[in-house]
Amino acid sequence: MYKKRTIIISNRLPVRIERKDGKLNIIPSEGGLATGLGSIYKEDGNIWIGWPGFVPKNDKEKVQVIEQLKPLNLVPVFLTEEELEGYYEGFSNEVLWPIFHYHPSYAVYEPSYWEMYEKVNQKFADIFAEQNINDADEIWIHDYQLMLLPKLIRALNYRLSIGYFQHIPFPPDELFRSIPWRDELLKGLLGADLIAFHTYNDTQHFLNACTHILGIPIQNNCLRSGGRSVYVEVFPMGIDFEKFNNLSKSPEIKKRAKEIRTFYNNRKFILSIDRLDYSKGILERLRAFECFLKTYPEVRNEVVLYMLVVPSRDSVPKYKQLHDEINRMVGQINAVYGNNEWTPISYFYNSYDVKELSALYVAADICLVTSLRDGMNLVCKEFIASKEDQNGVLILSEMAGASKELIGPLLINPNSIEEICECLKKAIHMSPAEQRKRLDDSLEIVKKFNIRHWVRIFFKRLREIKSIQQREHAR
Ligand code: G6P
Repeated sequence: MYKKRTIIISNRLPVRIERKDGKLNIIPSEGGLATGLGSIYKEDGNIWIGWPGFVPKNDKEKVQVIEQLKPLNLVPVFLTEEELEGYYEGFSNEVLWPIFHYHPSYAVYEPSYWEMYEKVNQKFADIFAEQNINDADEIWIHDYQLMLLPKLIRALNYRLSIGYFQHIPFPPDELFRSIPWRDELLKGLLGADLIAFHTYNDTQHFLNACTHILGIPIQNNCLRSGGRSVYVEVFPMGIDFEKFNNLSKSPEIKKRAKEIRTFYNNRKFILSIDRLDYSKGILERLRAFECFLKTYPEVRNEVVLYMLVVPSRDSVPKYKQLHDEINRMVGQINAVYGNNEWTPISYFYNSYDVKELSALYVAADICLVTSLRDGMNLVCKEFIASKEDQNGVLILSEMAGASKELIGPLLINPNSIEEICECLKKAIHMSPAEQRKRLDDSLEIVKKFNIRHWVRIFFKRLREIKSIQQREHAR
């Protein structure tokens, strides 16, 4: 009997290839998706298809990468510099990303970006087609870089079970409508059987877009497309709870957290961690922190904002610009408010390993998340998972998907500098009992709805949908 396979497809593989001293090394990703899907793609016969984060110099290097990745069940899709420019930097990150994060003025509707997006999605489909696919196989496609892929794969085999998960928000249909290639994008996704998002709002936005733009009637959460029922559902993504929870309790991490706190003279430690991105509200956060120092002079010398910004998409112009603005603003706040003994903001533009991140979560009194728009935001869940042993306060933007799921955080509107500022004051003075109560409420959710649970229920639902469809066909 044929053993059905699972094929995962995402823009990036869960590893990247790095060229060092003439050698090609495999660097595993520490991301949640890689962990959550680890037990699946590593299983015999299953595979993960994606870009290895590397442009080979020649065919010899290509073959070498293919061979190195094969035992890990990973199949690379090689992209040229030109393809990366049009498909990844261009269409994915200068059209879809700004529109999906409610920044329409940042969108660049360049037809050549679209052409490259189509071409690269087709390239992914071609690599997929080479994998000896069987009707029984299950396919899980991830994120906005591959919105055309469900349809392309459906065209290869009508019977396959295809799931799509979007890790970023789906905007209201009036916003989505601005994209010149909106019909093609929607039709691309409708090749899937299950289309999933982090929040209820995202699913409603997507369903509305299908009705208002394509004229497809909705029945509850279901759409009829190409003679099939397509289900649109909510699956809020979790984190690897155990990893962060265990790390936070380990003597090594506790020791490191203590060192960090001592280094900052045990001042109130406000932590923020994000990729450099305009959707994260980094400038708004800095303005709010400045407002905090200005409005409450008594906190000067007593608090520190530890801001870790992870480099990202630095070849996209808006990201470069934001980087400069952050540098300028941090410099200005530190110059105006700092003194010989105290620097208000400790700013790092770097990526840290998971142990250092864990120590920061343990050390932090406050975790400050100010996203202007965020699919879920996993940082806040990692902070919560690291706080079973000690207190802390989570200040969370109501524009992040996590705010719809967690009970306990102090919620803020990131566009209100005053509100963030007042919330910082409240957090600093919150009683240990209230901190504990709020953390425990969130902990329960983060623990239960972890990444493994998310993967499990997604596949369970995909299978249920497959049997519903089979029954429909039999009728
Ligand atoms: C978000 C997206 C992911 C993406 C990640 C990092 O979380 O949802 O699809 O991989 O950002 O961005 P990058 O452009 O470096 O892949």
